[in-house]
Amino acid sequence: MIERENEIITSSLNKGEEEAEKSLRPDSLIQYIGQEKIKEKLNIFIEAAKLRDEPLDHVLLYGPPGLGKTTLSTIISHEMNVNIRITSGPAIERPGDLAAILTNLNENDVLFIDEIHRLNRSVEEVLYPAMEDYALDIIIGKGPSARSIRLDLPKFTLIGATTRAGSLTSPLRDRFGVVCKLDYYSEEELVEIVKRSADILSIEIKKEGAFEISRRSRGTPRIANRILKRVRDYALVKGDGIIDADISNKALDMLEIDSQGFDNIDRKLLKTIIDFYNGGPVGLDTIAASIGEESITIEDVCEPYLMQKGFLSRTPRGRIATEKAYRYFNLVKRNNEQISFDKVE
Ligand SMILES: Nc1ncnc2c1ncn2[C@@H]1O[C@H](COP(=O)(O)OP(=O)(O)OP(=O)(O)O)[C@@H](O)[C@H]1O
Ligand SMILES: [Mg+2]
Repeated sequence: MIERENEIITSSLNKGEEEAEKSLRPDSLIQYIGQEKIKEKLNIFIEAAKLRDEPLDHVLLYGPPGLGKTTLSTIISHEMNVNIRITSGPAIERPGDLAAILTNLNENDVLFIDEIHRLNRSVEEVLYPAMEDYALDIIIGKGPSARSIRLDLPKFTLIGATTRAGSLTSPLRDRFGVVCKLDYYSEEELVEIVKRSADILSIEIKKEGAFEISRRSRGTPRIANRILKRVRDYALVKGDGIIDADISNKALDMLEIDSQGFDNIDRKLLKTIIDFYNGGPVGLDTIAASIGEESITIEDVCEPYLMQKGFLSRTPRGRIATEKAYRYFNLVKRNNEQISFDKVE
């Protein structure tokens, strides 16, 4: 899990925040806002599985952090009326660990493996027959007398979550019957999420206040919820506790989150590509070293959003700051040299 200490924007989970998040987590598909296509698909597959009295096919959820993968998995288990067992790729160290988990599942249960791209190879190999035939192949004995026996497992649904589907091996990826890519949420959807969370936390918020928070939350529910709490603090101390547009604006300015949802690191990243590398292309590791951030944070948290907003593009030769990025800093790129926007017209 990526951590950026004291940062609002990092959409990975901070310690201690997990409990608070649970209360904000919707627990049925109806309460789950947005991701309409995924919901529609899952609804049908869940209904069908229930009618056949079979487990749901294995599901792969992928997309940037904080978009609701864990939430969706618990919802699936609720909708299927089964238990969910939650673990993560790095937590399953040895094949035996996974075997123990699998043999302890009940019929039709959900096994949720977060960060599934980080499973090690030998563990992954146990998963193949488990997913395909609900079976466990165990080697007994050593050397020439060693033989393999097959143990039946309860039928189950594996839900794998990952921020990087590209890092999954193809044999693993191919064994998922349902693959869902989570997208960033629209501002309207985030407004709904912010209002819902405010309701649960008994925070009074005006429509404009919710809109302002949504606009600056990088399409990510986790960030929206996190900002909401900070703005609530601001409203309490600097205002009358009610969140309106003005309070939201001031609080977000204080948090140094701009109208695009960019924070210091995003700005530093773009500015470095422009100033030091003439707009790119420049390699990820080079940028990471220049701005003193980890490559993985940049790749998983900053870049997907910057690319989606059209400020950055990724090419085989490296990252490039787009026209939009230049304009953001009041610069224009012309004949390979940058000039200040004010001097153009
Ligand atoms: N569709 C949604 N509607 C309402 N709230 C949501 C939705 N999706 C996510 N949330 C909120 O965002 C929080 C973060 O979601 P979640 O933990 O499921 O993200 P994630 O994709 O698993 O992130 P990570 O990749 O870091 O594990 C949840 O606690 C929940 O409150
Ligand atoms: Mg998660």
